[in-house]
Amino acid sequence: MEQLVAEHPAHADSLSKRNFDRLARYINGYSGIRMPPSKSTMLEGRLRRRLRATGHSSLNQYCDYLFEEDGIKAEAVHLIDVATTNKTDFFREPAHFSYLSEVVLPLIAERGQRTIRAWSAACSTGAEPYTLAMVLEEFARSSNLSYSILATDLSTQVLSTAIRGVYPADMVAPVPADMAKRYVMRSVKTHDHTVRIHPTLRAKVGFARLNFMDEKYRVGDRMDLIFCRNVLIYFEKQTQVNVLSRLCECLAPGGYMFIGHSESISGYSLPLKQVANTIFEKI
Ligand SMILES: C[S@@+](CC[C@H](N)C(=O)[O-])C[C@H]1O[C@@H](n2cnc3c(N)ncnc32)[C@H](O)[C@@H]1O
Repeated sequence: MEQLVAEHPAHADSLSKRNFDRLARYINGYSGIRMPPSKSTMLEGRLRRRLRATGHSSLNQYCDYLFEEDGIKAEAVHLIDVATTNKTDFFREPAHFSYLSEVVLPLIAERGQRTIRAWSAACSTGAEPYTLAMVLEEFARSSNLSYSILATDLSTQVLSTAIRGVYPADMVAPVPADMAKRYVMRSVKTHDHTVRIHPTLRAKVGFARLNFMDEKYRVGDRMDLIFCRNVLIYFEKQTQVNVLSRLCECLAPGGYMFIGHSESISGYSLPLKQVANTIFEKI
């Protein structure tokens, strides 16, 4: 990275305003992600990594290739990878998972329901759906509930990491010790500092590419739980409402929606009632 910065100092190769606007318009139209001018340095830095792969010598030349030579079709997937922020963690915002195991799952079991369908929408590299799998598996061990998890994201790059289920060992530090023992496999090789999620959990999670900008989310039967966390913040208000409305169509009455702690739906007209901080029940 340092080397790349040195090879391409920002002042020597920055995007023209016209090219930044073209990119921002494309990215926003395709993914809903807002690209204000304050993001231009971030975008330039990330795009430089594409120059070598595509054989272009400057950002503006790369943009000409995208918009004047129809390179956009070949590069669309990479542009989305470049535009998305994929930060995630195991047991991120842990209050959600405590509420899930202490309140939501017992309530669902009390209703006499035998199976749970959960959806990690915008799953990034997989920490969220695998955390969900750990919590659901723990509950399933002591009840007769079975479960399945769908995990989707727009970025193909994060999905391929998620499907492998291999992570740097320090990333699973937030996993409680008893769960780590059961569900996280350490490498037997001394210098291999990676871990892998246990096949029992990997088998419970199905991954697919889904763009929130799609008119309809084809996810099969209605979900009991939807986690849509830390992605709404990248969208305009109207896009947030549209995405949440479509997600609500996929949520069963009495099902639960979890959004990120820094996100809010207050003032939005949605069939949801708040039951805890950033947790909602479908009405
Ligand atoms: C910051 S991560 C959040 C990951 C996880 N939900 C969490 O809270 O840890 C945001 C994710 O949203 C995805 N994303 C952005 N725009 C999207 C869209 N239009 N459709 C589906 N996923 C999108 C990104 O690829 C990224 O992986």
